[in-house]
Amino acid sequence: MKRKKIGLIGAGNIGGELANLAVTKQLGDVVLYDIAAKEDFAKGKALDLEQGSTQSGADSRVIGSSNWEDLAGADVLIITAGVPRKPGQSRDDLVGINLPIIRNVAENAKKYCPGAFSIIVSNPLDAMVYEYHRVTGFDKSMVSGMAGVLDSARFSLFLAREAGQSVKDIRATVLGGHGDDMVPVLSHTTVNGVPITQFIAKDKLDAIIARTRNGGGEIVKLMGTSAYYAPAASAITMAEAYLNDEKRLLPAAAYLDGQYGYSGFFIGVPTIIGGGGIEKIIELSLTEEEKVALQKSVDSVQGVVDVVKKSI
Ligand code: NAI
Repeated sequence: MKRKKIGLIGAGNIGGELANLAVTKQLGDVVLYDIAAKEDFAKGKALDLEQGSTQSGADSRVIGSSNWEDLAGADVLIITAGVPRKPGQSRDDLVGINLPIIRNVAENAKKYCPGAFSIIVSNPLDAMVYEYHRVTGFDKSMVSGMAGVLDSARFSLFLAREAGQSVKDIRATVLGGHGDDMVPVLSHTTVNGVPITQFIAKDKLDAIIARTRNGGGEIVKLMGTSAYYAPAASAITMAEAYLNDEKRLLPAAAYLDGQYGYSGFFIGVPTIIGGGGIEKIIELSLTEEEKVALQKSVDSVQGVVDVVKKSI
């Protein structure tokens, strides 16, 4: 069987770490793509990574490129093209800059990689996935956005540390848009089936929810740019679920077709990811409070999607 081909669009902070993980995990050959002005940078990063991989004995090839022809036939595309936030900026502030970038990427993906499972990472996430799907015309099952895995990871970590328990046993999910009104779903949060409320008091849980919602902003404030290790690890989890047909239940931005009472846009929901891409959307029973919070998050996402639609 031929080795899989992983196309990474954007060779910046997340792109570099994605390449590192893809090689270490031997997911396939990697093409690290960036714009012409950064071709040498992408090539240098690729060479550095390929040289490093000799230490783990990985046989995967890594090439840097600014030529979409090198991406032809990719099995997976992970898209981080665009600019990240600076301190004081919201994700939605990036729409004007990142919209033409995602359109350019989508046109090329449509031409060169029609069979790929696409994982969008660029912000504002839910609106960028919407536009990528619209421009490529790819089947909705083959287009997804990475945010929920990362937001749930942050939520799980804070819960594990507060409860003094292993992060391995925390079962937590975050619904809604990748913004400050995302919805950590407390009613389905357990320590291997035992409700989290049995381990952590309400005031502490409220503080953890607030910290999760601001999880990206906390890092932007500290580093002056966006997080990249955890975002890359999260996107790779989704890519692996697809490549290995794992049928994992992972929160991802997926196209809603009536689920949760909404239709016609992408937002974070629990999905089953396997060899068919987004194979299914799982509907959770939500409390009234969670339904209200989800509506608020949907309103925010639709506000940004409306900005995108007006510029078509
Ligand atoms: P970065 O600035 O380090 O890298 C972005 C790369 O995209 C740059 O190398 C740039 O030259 C490249 N690029 C620009 N236009 C391009 C085009 N047309 N085609 C290909 N490449 C192009 O940024 P970083 O830190 O890697 O973040 C990337 C994106 O991911 C940002 O929009 C950021 O907000 C977002 N992000 C999303 C998260 C999520 O959970 N969904 C988490 C963290 C960041």
